[in-house]
Amino acid sequence: MYSQPIPDKYYKLTEQEVDERIYKAKEELGNRLVILGHHYQRDEVIRFADYRGDSLKLSQLASSRPEVDYIVFCGVHFMAESADILSEDHQKVNLPDLNAGCHMADMADLDLVEECWEQLNDVAGNGTMPITYINCTADLKAFVGQHDGAVCTSSNAGAVLEWGTAQKDRLLFFPDQHLGRNTGVKYGIDLDEMILWDPYEDLGGNTEEEIEKSKLILWKGCCPVHQLFTTKQIKRLREQIPDIQILVHPECRYEVVQESDLNGSTAFIIKTIEEAPAGSSWAIGTEMHLVNRLAREHQDKFITSIDPNMCLCTTMNRIDAPHVLWSLENLLEDEVVNQISVPQDISYWAKVSLDRMLDIT
Ligand code: 13P
Ligand code: SF4
Repeated sequence: MYSQPIPDKYYKLTEQEVDERIYKAKEELGNRLVILGHHYQRDEVIRFADYRGDSLKLSQLASSRPEVDYIVFCGVHFMAESADILSEDHQKVNLPDLNAGCHMADMADLDLVEECWEQLNDVAGNGTMPITYINCTADLKAFVGQHDGAVCTSSNAGAVLEWGTAQKDRLLFFPDQHLGRNTGVKYGIDLDEMILWDPYEDLGGNTEEEIEKSKLILWKGCCPVHQLFTTKQIKRLREQIPDIQILVHPECRYEVVQESDLNGSTAFIIKTIEEAPAGSSWAIGTEMHLVNRLAREHQDKFITSIDPNMCLCTTMNRIDAPHVLWSLENLLEDEVVNQISVPQDISYWAKVSLDRMLDIT
């Protein structure tokens, strides 16, 4: 989708002017506005969020504030779409910069998933349930809703997988192979009961027999940020700091999660650090903004990234303070720039799969 360009004048303001005008616009909009922010957002942005959260919490918040007119979503596109789907019809959702997409979400699209689904049905009848990670486009959530499946986030993937396996012989999990594999293993599915589905190969690169025998089919997608952490980096850290504890997000590779001490969603990572004793040492495998923030906020503990030279999530990083200001000042005129509006037919079925997730959670 085409992103409305921010006028140059917003980049001619000083940081202080931007901040002052954001506070002023927030005050004028009062309780007509809520700003939601994902933990991976820049510091200059997250401090304006009325609520911060991981993907699950932000979905829950979007569905629980029916009184506000505007939801400004400081996160990425699929999150703002979910907010639009879960909020009331009268509420308008803004994503300050539409270029804030998600590389993982881009790794699955409806045509490829429908093609996969057809092939699975030909080989194995109707014994498969689709489960999608929330990091996908709204039309894929709608597909899942129409085929009796559910959405999950990294906070509740285990509960959703258990719910699905109780009903069907196998699950098709997309788009993140790593979250699917890590969660599957945690909940009792063996690695040899899982197959990888490469959407650009016939039968996903599998034989009919492999498909029939499988319990979990993992779409060949990943998060390019989390996938970069390696076991070699962990080994080096353990050699350098013997009492270091390794804490990673389940979007990391299977072997990295296996080598870690603890793994869990963004919210789990934050809670673990908050509850850790003073003097403890942690190496974290997740997005850099969050790791840096945790290190700054918990100076009584040693906190580093598993890879201090890693790249941050470039799409999350698209949202900056000038874009937030531009969005808010337009809302003062009842103009919604870069509005996220999911078409009604897609929204209906996507809400079915999101509501199933919220009910299971
Ligand atoms: P959570 O917010 O569920 O931890 O997911 C992390 C992420 O990569 C968001 O895009
Ligand atoms: Fe997508 Fe990864 Fe960025 Fe999350 S961190 S928004 S999964 S690219």
